[in-house]
Amino acid sequence: MRILITAGPTREAIDPVRYLSNRSSGKMGYAIAEAAIAAGHEVLLVSGPVSLTAPAEAELISVESAAQMYAAVRVAILRCDVAIHCAAVADYRPAQIASEKLKKTSENLTLELEKTEDILGSCRSPFGFEGTLIGFAAETENLEANALAKLERKGCDYLVANDVSRKDIGFDQDENEVIIFGADGSRQALAKQEKRELGKAILELIPARENP
Ligand code: CTP
Repeated sequence: MRILITAGPTREAIDPVRYLSNRSSGKMGYAIAEAAIAAGHEVLLVSGPVSLTAPAEAELISVESAAQMYAAVRVAILRCDVAIHCAAVADYRPAQIASEKLKKTSENLTLELEKTEDILGSCRSPFGFEGTLIGFAAETENLEANALAKLERKGCDYLVANDVSRKDIGFDQDENEVIIFGADGSRQALAKQEKRELGKAILELIPARENP
């Protein structure tokens, strides 16, 4: 089975030397990639900038921005049976990228931001992906209600939700604790554990027909 995994943050350029980004380390996506390879799957890893080494057996597509990640996923997803979207894609990017380094000419600087493409939300339509679609949700409040709304809005089969307001799990940590919501109404709470172990549990969600 071919599995597409997005991982890491994206960087949205402000000028030639500055960008907007977030604290994602890529650990969760890379852990799933390793678990998938260990289980005998083919992995296509679409990764934002991280300081991790991709498993040698994975096909790695390195990107920087949300627009680049969108383009890479659009091209690759129809060759895959499963897509797992772990990346912490920036929701907004500067509306204009300055061609020269911005100078400190005023006391205040206002950046105008525009929405980035919703990569996960584009998989069913317009991309036409019919395989197993797994999304992640980083929430700081109303975890269950927000996750269920996101599951439906983005056409996912499963949504893996975690509470990013907690410092001991999630962003840049080795461990995570998640609740996995299924489009079939299922709800599975996974206790705090190593991301590698969680990666295995997430792979077990894939329906048997899609297993190699
Ligand atoms: N995602 C994506 N493209 C974006 C933003 C998010 O593909 N531009 C994906 C993430 O990879 C993740 C899921 O959507 O699998 C949920 O991301 P999250 O940031 O929690 O949700 P948002 O779409 O940003 O929704 P909201 O801001 O309302 O929480």
